[in-house]
Amino acid sequence: MAAAHRLRRGPGSPARRDHEPLIWDYGHIGNYEELWLLEKAFGRGLSDRGLYDIYDASLTPRSERPSLNLLDRRDAGRYLDAVREAVLDALENADLDGNDPLLKDGFVYHMVLQHEYQHNETMLQTLQLMQGSGYRPEIRADLPPGNPPEEEIVYVPGGPFVMGTDDRAWALDNERSAHEVEVPSFYLDTTPATNRAYLEFVEDGGYDREELWSPEGWVWREKEDIHAPGHWYQKEPHDWWTQCFGFDEPVNAEAPVVHVSWYEADAYARWAGKRLPTEAEWEKAASWDPSTGTKRFYPWGDEPPDGARANLDQLAFRPAEVSAYPAGASAYGSLGMIGDLWEWTASEFSAYPGFESFPYPEYSEIFFDCGYRVLRGGSWATRPGAIRNTFRNWDLPIRRQLFVGFRCAR
Ligand SMILES: [Fe+2]
Repeated sequence: MAAAHRLRRGPGSPARRDHEPLIWDYGHIGNYEELWLLEKAFGRGLSDRGLYDIYDASLTPRSERPSLNLLDRRDAGRYLDAVREAVLDALENADLDGNDPLLKDGFVYHMVLQHEYQHNETMLQTLQLMQGSGYRPEIRADLPPGNPPEEEIVYVPGGPFVMGTDDRAWALDNERSAHEVEVPSFYLDTTPATNRAYLEFVEDGGYDREELWSPEGWVWREKEDIHAPGHWYQKEPHDWWTQCFGFDEPVNAEAPVVHVSWYEADAYARWAGKRLPTEAEWEKAASWDPSTGTKRFYPWGDEPPDGARANLDQLAFRPAEVSAYPAGASAYGSLGMIGDLWEWTASEFSAYPGFESFPYPEYSEIFFDCGYRVLRGGSWATRPGAIRNTFRNWDLPIRRQLFVGFRCAR
């Protein structure tokens, strides 16, 4: 379906209160780099204690960030440049082969890179929430067309696989340790749920049938008066449109549904006679090679992502139609597991056996076992260096601002 764009006219409201101003993210990227690659790694003092207080995520909740005395764009740019120069200077003498767990194998550099990559994506989430003026990023690559998959579901025979990793160079603490998990046999949808399939749920009264929803999901749906995925609206009956960075376009039936909460994904799955996959099922389908009994770094193998295998890295600023990347298939034949959109899983965010908080508990540990659901696979907005089969993202089941959809299992 061709995308006809026009500017959406709306009230000139900034991003919602559950996202910080873009300029906060920008300063925070530099401040995190200074904190970890200068102060923590080398004991160099912070340039300005006041900046640390403004830009530390644990000190100021999102709702307070708009009222902080933030650096403006130009001063923030100068600050980031100064931090980077000092970091490169310190790197000259960094001992990456020693025993310091922060520096060993470059862990702390990878962590800071990962952090910047993740903020690149959250800044796009903020731009997608913004109303009143469209944001039209430069399209850096065209996406390949989708094709209906040959098989709509893949079968994953029961048996053990190795979940998580022991890697201490790139992986974050919540991805460790590698541990064997016995996964009973299951079926997994070859691709994420499409807009076409989701529209059937909508038009079948899926949002009005309490029996399809979890009790908490139904309370949320009623309170928020939700009737369709985020950004969707009807021009005429059965004529669904969506807004992409402030511009209107028809819903593309062959693309995966995005901007749905965990509650919506769960209700859809029940309507379809299916369920969401557990985190272990997702990771096994994405990573395990049953012919060799080994684990792959990406669904297709260990080679880094490229434009033939996955839609990552903010190329076209949208998910591709499903099945557009047959070369990105996992050993079991599931498609699109890395890239295009984050996928909700059934699982709550919890520690793996042998978990050790490193290097700070605010990264993962404080979020364990308090209602967050795990998301897997990364989106079109995820930078390639920030995603792998073991990477775990998490958010509350009400959240829809991520570039997030789902696929079903049974
Ligand atoms: Fe951050």
